[in-house]
Amino acid sequence: MSDAQRAVWIGPSVLSADFLRLGEQLAEVARAGADYIHFDVMDGNFVPNISVGLPILEAVRQGTSLPVDVHLMIVEPAQWVDAFREAGADRITVHVEASDHLHRVVQTIESAGALPGVSLNPATPVSAIEEVVPYVGQILVMSVNPGFGGQSFIPTMLDKISRVRELIDRKNPGCRLEVDGGINTETIAGVVAAGADTIVAGTAVFNARATVAENLASLRSAMGR
Ligand code: DX5
Ligand code: ZN
Repeated sequence: MSDAQRAVWIGPSVLSADFLRLGEQLAEVARAGADYIHFDVMDGNFVPNISVGLPILEAVRQGTSLPVDVHLMIVEPAQWVDAFREAGADRITVHVEASDHLHRVVQTIESAGALPGVSLNPATPVSAIEEVVPYVGQILVMSVNPGFGGQSFIPTMLDKISRVRELIDRKNPGCRLEVDGGINTETIAGVVAAGADTIVAGTAVFNARATVAENLASLRSAMGR
């Protein structure tokens, strides 16, 4: 499939939402045409922050009919896969750096009935995912060091995205290529041009500068498609 044919999805990250108004914010992003919801789980161990877990995921599941994409920034993710699936995850992404037996974790996610994804931290080479690409539905390239919203995009990740795109095209063309961290109206076009088709945006969607609908429209227009 050529780049021009591939639909680009945008998934607001609820990490940056107003948790006091989570239901309303989910409704706003759905009305504004978001393609999915990105849900960040941090354990204070794999990353230096703690975010949200199963009860909030259950609430998100009730508050949206959009696909829910769960990004597990946790050590030993395999033992939590079933619980996150039951709480409402449609897609579950684990970190290459957090799993000794990555292929087995991918199989566990698939058996649980969710779409499996694997993610790479900025310093992890593309070669770390080469053997699992045929078995996953999504590769997530982190374009910041995971743990916090609102960080700046690391420019050298553009070249990495294009190398992941080549790998996907060669080994599993149906696999999505997601990018997460520092995506805004300045960075989104380059990320899509490099081959990403699934874009996470946290602070660029949920902020005090404009409404969620205005922010999503700005991102789409900056992407140029
Ligand atoms: C960072 C998280 C991201 C975060 C992105 O560790 O994985 O999903 O919400 O936030 P922004 O888009 O503000 O960089
Ligand atoms: Zn994330």
